[in-house]
Amino acid sequence: MRRKRIWAAGITSCMSILLFCTCAEQDMSAPDRLYVGVACYNQGDTFLSEMLDIFSEQVQEMGSHGTETAVAVRDAVGSQRTQNDQVKELINAGCNVLCVNLVDRADPSEIIDLARENDVPIIFFNREPVAEDMMQWDKLYYVGADAQQSGVMQGELAVDVIRADSRVDRNNDGKIQYVVLEGEAGHQDAIIRTETAVDTLRSNGIQLEKLSYGIANWNRAQAQNRMLQMISEHQNNIELVLANNDDMALGAMDAYEKLNYTESARPVFLGIDGTDVGLQAVEDSEMAGTVYNDKEGQAEAMAELAAALVSGEGMEKINFQNGKYIYLPYSKVTRENIDMFTNRGK
Ligand code: BGC
Ligand code: CA
Repeated sequence: MRRKRIWAAGITSCMSILLFCTCAEQDMSAPDRLYVGVACYNQGDTFLSEMLDIFSEQVQEMGSHGTETAVAVRDAVGSQRTQNDQVKELINAGCNVLCVNLVDRADPSEIIDLARENDVPIIFFNREPVAEDMMQWDKLYYVGADAQQSGVMQGELAVDVIRADSRVDRNNDGKIQYVVLEGEAGHQDAIIRTETAVDTLRSNGIQLEKLSYGIANWNRAQAQNRMLQMISEHQNNIELVLANNDDMALGAMDAYEKLNYTESARPVFLGIDGTDVGLQAVEDSEMAGTVYNDKEGQAEAMAELAAALVSGEGMEKINFQNGKYIYLPYSKVTRENIDMFTNRGK
């Protein structure tokens, strides 16, 4: 009874390491115990913090079906070295599966070696290791989404807005003057989203003129700063802001707010993710649209895979691509269909 209560308390996103040590003393090979160690590149990231809350709930639910479960989340705050230490600590504390959101997606070798030495499978998520690294061991998996699809959808949303409202081309020159706010330089989602969004606009016959771009590392405050610089350079000439994620689109909107631009002098903003704040901005018609990054689907896929890896049951039901990848589809979100997304997971 007492142990049960301890476990109930342990099923939180920041379970203390002390508690994890208690489980290490138990039989780790028992398939009815699911102890998940999560390593996150930066928990200040809006999308990931929402996704991990859902993931912890999903694993907790599995606990109510007769499996003993616990989730411990560690935040690397942007340091790969810290994350390597945290993974070591999680393995020593007795977790039997790891979910790793790499800080540097090109540098997973130390973590893979640690996991292999201890025979603890890894599900990488959101920050995709390169293909060669995924081949280093047969117990490596990836859960995420197809960056290209999100870029195409963002481009299509922009095409729809431009075609529906001739006022988007404010200076009436037949071209759309645009800027891009990009995520981290080496991230698979940053480069690909930008390229495919712009290509989609062009292939739909929209004439474009790129005024500028800024790297804002997925971050709202950095995006506000970049946007302030771009406005000071291009004043009223910016007609479209393509942001690689919602937080950066919101940062761009913050910049216009700060400068007291009237609504008619503001550009069209488009994001990607459908975070709570992002959806709110679409609902309020401040952001023209976003592309839903299915955090519920990714969390559920990760929880199911973690359970299957530990129990050895249910692997055959999982729909892998190339044997070890799970990609959840994106969806377009506008004010018209927003209800489908605001009620998701509730
Ligand atoms: C999301 C971003 C997030 C990044 C973190 C992307 O897929 O769209 O919002 O900051 O992942 O790795
Ligand atoms: Ca124009």
